Amino acid sequence: MAMKILDQEVQQGSSALSYAGLLEKIEILRSRLRWASKLDRPEIEKLLRQANGLRDEVMQLSHKERFVQAASGEGVKVVQSPGERRRALLARSFVFEGTFGDNPRLLDALEVAEKAAPTDLPVLIDGESGTGKELMAKVIHANGSRADKPFISVNCGAIPENLLESELFGHKKGAFTGAANDRKGKFESAHHGTIFLDEIGELPLTGQVKLLRVLQSQEIQRVGADEAIAVDTRIVAATNKNLRKLSEQGLFREDLFYRLSVIHVSLPPLRERKDEIPLLFSYFCDEAAEALKRRPVKMTPRLRDFLLNYAYPGNIRELRNLIYRITCLAGDTAGIEHLPVDIRPRPQSSNESAADSTAAAAAIIAGAAISLSDAKRAASDEAERAFLERGLREVGGTVSELARRCDMNRSHLQMLLKKHGIHSKDFRRRDVPPHEGNRV
Ligand SMILES: Nc1ncnc2c1ncn2[C@@H]1O[C@H](COP(=O)(O)OP(=O)(O)OP(=O)(O)O)[C@@H](O)[C@H]1O
Ligand SMILES: [Mg+2]
Repeated sequence: MAMKILDQEVQQGSSALSYAGLLEKIEILRSRLRWASKLDRPEIEKLLRQANGLRDEVMQLSHKERFVQAASGEGVKVVQSPGERRRALLARSFVFEGTFGDNPRLLDALEVAEKAAPTDLPVLIDGESGTGKELMAKVIHANGSRADKPFISVNCGAIPENLLESELFGHKKGAFTGAANDRKGKFESAHHGTIFLDEIGELPLTGQVKLLRVLQSQEIQRVGADEAIAVDTRIVAATNKNLRKLSEQGLFREDLFYRLSVIHVSLPPLRERKDEIPLLFSYFCDEAAEALKRRPVKMTPRLRDFLLNYAYPGNIRELRNLIYRITCLAGDTAGIEHLPVDIRPRPQSSNESAADSTAAAAAIIAGAAISLSDAKRAASDEAERAFLERGLREVGGTVSELARRCDMNRSHLQMLLKKHGIHSKDFRRRDVPPHEGNRV
């Protein structure tokens, strides 16, 4: 009921209606008390439950009011840099739960989470796969008054339809074949805490109806049981689908959509917050090294360049998994060959280290973040390569002549050419007779 009032308010943009609705309910409660000559225990319990419900509704409404006030004050706030916004959150004792990043859109999401957390309002988080929806749900839980109570995660897409009701609401012994004992459902397990309904867009329509009923009554009924059990659970749902569109197509109940999305948090894909990649990158390198009990892996400039510029369709999860994979598979230094085949770029030349230094040089020019030692190595490789190419051009591709001019050992020179993937024959002059060229 509280949610219904709030929903109406959200849609109509007026709080008078909600307060009027609450007052009306309080009046009904009062008149029942006024006219009762005597009350037995179950009746008292029932009235108490209703009074508690009303108290919670008032609390929610006042939290929401604060939220709306804070949001409307946003326009006059001085513009803060991302660093300042993050520090301000820290100063307000915000719990990040390991969420990294200074991207303005991530900070927007964190600031909404901060305001929503102390309320019991339902939150809908959307974003592509791997953008951190579950982490954000944990952030909301950790910053609210339920932080020390359970956080129960349910993947709505992974439960077979016939088990859904029992999974969410529990069952009584003998309710169906296989129900050998009484069993608590996820909602009961999340009592006083938060239930995270992941992949809510996958919930079949029958499940949606049942969920809606629970949201309205704040009571659940175990499968096969007659009595209802009151549950006090904060709902955070997540989806990688466009629920509004699904509801327009009749695949998701519109009323449930509005009820779940009182607060809406959107997480941008990683390719739209590329500025965060270097930070996440070094964090996951350290994390992977610690988890796999090894020294942080070194990377060739080419691999590093690839990882800093890749589009990450699987977002932060993909970045994390890639770094764990590389850390596990590589020896001291990881290269392009440690990437999964399906995303590995085609070698740009027959010699990988040559391509690596070119990529790193490009990264330096582009101002991409690589370590000082990598930058030095790449610059030195580039200088070496330019020196060899210029020399070969001058001597018309004759390696022995170049070795003589530079006072270098010929086999050492051959080795350097091989390292850079330079072919001396590419520098031979057209007018040089073939037997001349064969001398090299
Ligand atoms: N901003 C962030 N900082 C640090 N780690 C993050 C961040 N966002 C996500 N992660 C990490 O990335 C991984 C994926 O995050 P999460 O499971 O929350 O994504 P999701 O959106 O729920 O993905 P899916 O839709 O695939 O279930 C987790 O290991 C999480 O800890
Ligand atoms: Mg998830």
